[in-house]
Amino acid sequence: MTDVDKQHVTTKSFTESQANYGEIFDQEGYLQQYYGAMLSKTITGSIKNPLFEPSREFDDHQKEDIIRCVRFKIRNLKFYIEHILQDMQAPVKVLDIGTGPFCGNVMYISAFEKVESIICSDYVESNRNYLKDLISATTSEQKGRFNWPQFMSIVYGDKSTNFVETFREKCRKVSHVDLSCLSEGLSDVESSGPYNIITSEWTFSEGTKDLTEYEELLKRCNNMLTVGGALLVEDVLEETFSTPEFGEIDIKYPSVWISEPWIRDAMVRQGFVVEQINLFYNNERNSPHFDGLGEIFVWATKIKNV
Ligand SMILES: C[S@@+](CC[C@H](N)C(=O)[O-])C[C@H]1O[C@@H](n2cnc3c(N)ncnc32)[C@H](O)[C@@H]1O
Repeated sequence: MTDVDKQHVTTKSFTESQANYGEIFDQEGYLQQYYGAMLSKTITGSIKNPLFEPSREFDDHQKEDIIRCVRFKIRNLKFYIEHILQDMQAPVKVLDIGTGPFCGNVMYISAFEKVESIICSDYVESNRNYLKDLISATTSEQKGRFNWPQFMSIVYGDKSTNFVETFREKCRKVSHVDLSCLSEGLSDVESSGPYNIITSEWTFSEGTKDLTEYEELLKRCNNMLTVGGALLVEDVLEETFSTPEFGEIDIKYPSVWISEPWIRDAMVRQGFVVEQINLFYNNERNSPHFDGLGEIFVWATKIKNV
């Protein structure tokens, strides 16, 4: 982005960006752009990939970043999910916060026998409807271009499990959630708890207003979990803004700036013990679309009520 371009970039307030968010979300485009990219056989991939149609013009370097980042994300979350579930007794109840249209990790969770039920949730109605359609459709009439069976078998390395079927069977509800208004925004998911596992990917720093609200959200997660339950959060590290994936890209949406030491301490203050933190660094600071340092993955266990 040139200096002249930068002058045209407008920064939205948190309230404005939240209001605008739902209008522009394109479920198919989002899945293609971030997750379809992983199916490229090579990183810079000249190979034709039917699940990758980016809605933005990316240069090779940006494509590499997306592919590496999402591969790292799935690899880590898969590892955490396996380890968390290994130590848990059936029946396990799971809540995912801010599922969006991406249900790869909750689909993977649904295939474990000891998992009894999953609640997905999102702020945006069209995202909730995308998931509801996926759950209610029969395989032959699955809407949309994103090929879930193909994605799951390649990315999660299991060709024998029908993840779409196990997800349909165990996902009991797709709830409304609004992290920007914690006093009321969690009531739907709170009423279906308590949970043994809460997961969330790429949502907390986008949906909350500041560090105080972010920490209040960690406290509310504590309240929704059983003692011994697991909280698994993936977020963007040290990011102050992102640009919308679709629509006008000359808008900056604010993001809560979280660092590793801060989230580690906040987890402890809110009744968790941190089991593991993984970091992934990339070059987002050089991109006009984001200014994060990379990704952070936190796996924590609730040890007491707060
Ligand atoms: C970057 S997407 C992540 C989607 C998915 N979890 C993933 O990892 O691909 C961010 C998600 O946060 C949701 N979100 C934004 N504001 C929110 C809010 N105030 N409360 C709850 N979710 C919100 C969006 O609807 C969107 O699905």
